[in-house]
Amino acid sequence: MIAVGLLALVACSSVVNAHTAAFAHGMYCHGGPNPGHDDQNTNTAVAPVYNLPRSQWWFQADRGCDRVPPAPGVFLELPAGGTFTVELAHNRAQTTLSYDGQYTSQWPDGGEHPEDWKGTGNPPGCIPEDGALHTNNQSMAAGTAFAISYVSDISAVTMENLVVFTVLPNTPWKRIATYAVPRDLPPCPADGCTCAWLWVPKGCGEPNMYMQGYKCKVTGSTSTRRLAPAQPPRYCPNFNDCTRGAKQMIATRQAEGNNVEVPQNDFVSYSEVWGFSPGAQNDIFV
Ligand SMILES: *[C@@H]1O[C@H](CO)[C@@H](O)[C@H](O)[C@H]1NC(C)=O
Repeated sequence: MIAVGLLALVACSSVVNAHTAAFAHGMYCHGGPNPGHDDQNTNTAVAPVYNLPRSQWWFQADRGCDRVPPAPGVFLELPAGGTFTVELAHNRAQTTLSYDGQYTSQWPDGGEHPEDWKGTGNPPGCIPEDGALHTNNQSMAAGTAFAISYVSDISAVTMENLVVFTVLPNTPWKRIATYAVPRDLPPCPADGCTCAWLWVPKGCGEPNMYMQGYKCKVTGSTSTRRLAPAQPPRYCPNFNDCTRGAKQMIATRQAEGNNVEVPQNDFVSYSEVWGFSPGAQNDIFV
């Protein structure tokens, strides 16, 4: 199955338009890269980062998104012990954040597709109509994650204080994506926390990564627990080899700042073979 996946990756390497973001209130570049202009039709936040210096890939600095926060007082809200929903799409126009949602469908491209959408062949090749999903079918969708840092100033976020707190397996897939929040996440500072949406596709296109910024805050929490410093994840087909506790985002395939080694015959992803259990990460506290 792993060999099949790698073959599929080679077969699909011509697909380069491979872009998806998590759209929701509180995101950076919500209206595109120009502060003061609210573009309903923006896809600035969707482009991945690949082979860039750390100063460029970090929070999409390559396109200036780290300097375009949401409007004051707007946050992605994270209900402690509950869930929050974002819209995975290739353009803001395909979400309910634009045009009263009239261009949305169940899918990230605003189109109609079968429930068992997949590429052609057996085993299925990469989905040809939508390279932006980077997958053959739902089961090959790599999984996406959110991380949180308890600092309000995005320039104070570090690999050690940005902790992965939730993982949603087999995404991106449909537009609506709902993530679980650990019950013990403490409240954020008055000006909010900084969050990141994260994805490392398993192939079907350039092996890039996604790190998209949000201003976020935890609601409904009286927890006094603290997050542990994040450690780099490790490839661990054997569970005993996994990094336990608070983990860093995966930084991979960049010119600088990578924190994982790419295994010979497998993928890098937010999944159990990298120590990320599905759902809320409840082991991230001191
Ligand atoms: C999904 O696609 C992969 C790669 O082609 C294949 O190995 C796997 O069997 C497929 N899964 C399902 C449920 O069809």
